[in-house]
Amino acid sequence: MVMLSVNGQARQVEVADDTPLLWVIREQLGMTGTKFGCGAGLCGACTIHLDGEAVRSCQTSVVDAAGKQVTTIEGLGAKEPHVLQTAWIAEQVPQCGYCQSGQIMQAAALLARNDNPTREEVVAHMDGNLCRCMTYARIQRAIMRAAG
Ligand code: FES
Repeated sequence: MVMLSVNGQARQVEVADDTPLLWVIREQLGMTGTKFGCGAGLCGACTIHLDGEAVRSCQTSVVDAAGKQVTTIEGLGAKEPHVLQTAWIAEQVPQCGYCQSGQIMQAAALLARNDNPTREEVVAHMDGNLCRCMTYARIQRAIMRAAG
């Protein structure tokens, strides 16, 4: 049994310690906003926050999340839309949408520590989050809008 804190709520799950956090979030906790893309740490679709840092939940064992604050896309805008979510809508970012929760979580970790990044910092920070629809320009515009 592993005790977790997910989006501010205590959760207890009966899984092996080495179960990927991504599976726990999706299958045990039923929060499907976090996506499975590659399962190998290469695409960023599964990005969540652990104590405010963007991490790939497919590469994080559930036991490594115990005692830390797990935040998923469901928790990011739970009270009111996050400034990035508002900017995402304003810039009409998504195409198929599959990677977008990971993109927003990756961007949110940047803005949490630097609310006025340069475009170069944004591009560098978002470099590992892939989008097969090539929405990169709109993603960058939305982050700059949210930062501004
Ligand atoms: Fe985790 Fe691709 S699903 S990085």
